[in-house]
Amino acid sequence: MRKLGKRILGFAMAATMVMSMATGCGKKEEKKADAADNKGASSSGVQVGVVLPTKDEPRWLQDQKQFETILGDAGFTNQVLFSQGSSATERTNVETLISKGIKVLIICAQDAAAASAAVDEAKQAGVKVIAYDRLITGTDSVDYYVTFDSFAVGAAQGQYLIDNAPAGSGIPLYLYAGAATDNNAFIFFEGAWSVLQPKIADGTFKIANSSEAEKLKDKASLERDEIGKIIGQITTDWDFNVAKSKAEANLTASNKDLKGDVLVLAPNDGTARSIADVFATDKDVKSYVITGQDSEKASVQYIIDGKQSMTVFKDTRTLAADSVAMAVSILDGKEPVTDSSYNNGKVDVPAKQTSIVVVTKDNVKQALIDSGYYNASDFSGLE
Ligand code: BGC
Repeated sequence: MRKLGKRILGFAMAATMVMSMATGCGKKEEKKADAADNKGASSSGVQVGVVLPTKDEPRWLQDQKQFETILGDAGFTNQVLFSQGSSATERTNVETLISKGIKVLIICAQDAAAASAAVDEAKQAGVKVIAYDRLITGTDSVDYYVTFDSFAVGAAQGQYLIDNAPAGSGIPLYLYAGAATDNNAFIFFEGAWSVLQPKIADGTFKIANSSEAEKLKDKASLERDEIGKIIGQITTDWDFNVAKSKAEANLTASNKDLKGDVLVLAPNDGTARSIADVFATDKDVKSYVITGQDSEKASVQYIIDGKQSMTVFKDTRTLAADSVAMAVSILDGKEPVTDSSYNNGKVDVPAKQTSIVVVTKDNVKQALIDSGYYNASDFSGLE
């Protein structure tokens, strides 16, 4: 973002990606007559339960909205519960759903390791478990995993920074990551590192805020514990306030040669907005390029307004539809469609993976409005 209202130059990097468009999820819909097509033979009542991490991040409200529509269309009673950032509440939610008789649990874990206890309980109750978006680790109680391509998310963020970096060398690079309790945070960082590392190693970029990353700059691919050490320094905990204070502390500690025109790897939209606001008010930061992910409405507006550079669109319609379709297959006694697998430290979990789309000012209308994900009236200043 060029500060002082100057135009940002540079094009959206190409994201490959197929946009798979389910119908009518940008608005509330009546139950469709043809929804029965998606119904499992035994799909009635509380057979499928969904547990999501928190209502406090718009990302998960997007998923909730899709589940409400898609579960309803498939003939299920809507059962979406939120853990509100607590593994204890998550477990209670799982127990509540088990007691209601669910046969399939779709769960996005608050904490990858802690959630294993809750899904072990589900397994003991004969419930099939689909990990949703975030993998649950260290247990064989996860039957399937439905996810976006998280490595591609991180790689797209890193590539965007490369493609939109100012000319020259020694360009300051501020790194931020998600919560260490979220397996995705590791994969996102790994993806970003895979493209950023050569530019760090050859001195084009200079890491501004992580001595651990600096130590590892010559390693093209990092072990999990090495990523863990870096995340230990640059984590936002997926929390907007933590992101804000970390950015403030980083800028306070940086001298002028780590300011000027800078690059910022922000892991998602909520943290990107917090971090961008901090960078925007530092008088020695002339311009910043900052990443994001989730296409949250507030970040889409930031992109339109030139305050955030990009976001990664993860079409929650597809993810929710894929996991409900998987649940229907399970209930019908069929083998769900999978296309990959993820090792969770205990077993290889069969997975269904969805691709992502990079969104910038240049393609925001096409990616998010024309696809029916949002309405143009949700935003101001959209051409
Ligand atoms: C999700 C992101 C989300 C983040 C914070 C990750 O696991 O994949 O979409 O922004 O958690 O909730």
